[in-house]
Amino acid sequence: MDTTIREFFDARAGRWDQITTHPPERVAAVLDLLGDISAARVLDVGSGTGVLLDSLLERVGPKGEVVALDLSPLMIEASRARHQGPNLLHEMGDFVSWRSSDPFDCIIAYSCFPHFLDPEGFWLSVCANLRSGGLLLVAHIEGRLAIDREHGGAASAISLPLPPVEELAARARSLGMEPVLQKDSDDSYFFLARR
Ligand SMILES: C[S@@+](CC[C@H](N)C(=O)[O-])C[C@H]1O[C@@H](n2cnc3c(N)ncnc32)[C@H](O)[C@@H]1O
Repeated sequence: MDTTIREFFDARAGRWDQITTHPPERVAAVLDLLGDISAARVLDVGSGTGVLLDSLLERVGPKGEVVALDLSPLMIEASRARHQGPNLLHEMGDFVSWRSSDPFDCIIAYSCFPHFLDPEGFWLSVCANLRSGGLLLVAHIEGRLAIDREHGGAASAISLPLPPVEELAARARSLGMEPVLQKDSDDSYFFLARR
């Protein structure tokens, strides 16, 4: 694959937590959308330095498992240094071609969807890695227009414009998934679907 994205995030991994803000109450509200995930097997895709991981581990509990997947080795290294646990696995890889032998109960793409330059590959990987009945959550704690502005308003070598949430719903439906929640407001972009 093109290494531009990996290099972009590798270069920022050391200071990622200083240049981004994820208020704990907003992160909690995002994860609340999944409902009760105790004992669930959860994939945090594009996990970065692991902003979701402690909350996810607490929610899945000792019988659950969390896999943090990112294509940037330095993001994974930073995340490993901050977050450990017997039921936490870190994996380096491109989600588009990554396949788990054991499907997940939930896949979360938090604050990373625009960086999947192959959205079709993203959807096919969701289908391959999410069990029937499992949940996909795509979430940002900013609205679509704000995110697109931050990304320069156009497709680039590291991001695509975030699609209207209705487009995600249409693609999910075409793959046999059932959208459960669609929200695109000034300060949130949430899409939740059940496979
Ligand atoms: C904007 S950062 C967000 C990181 C983290 N979710 C957060 O909110 O702090 C996007 C992350 O997605 C990762 N990423 C981009 N494309 C990816 C892909 N195809 N497979 C796995 N990770 C990817 C990047 O390396 C980066 O760490």
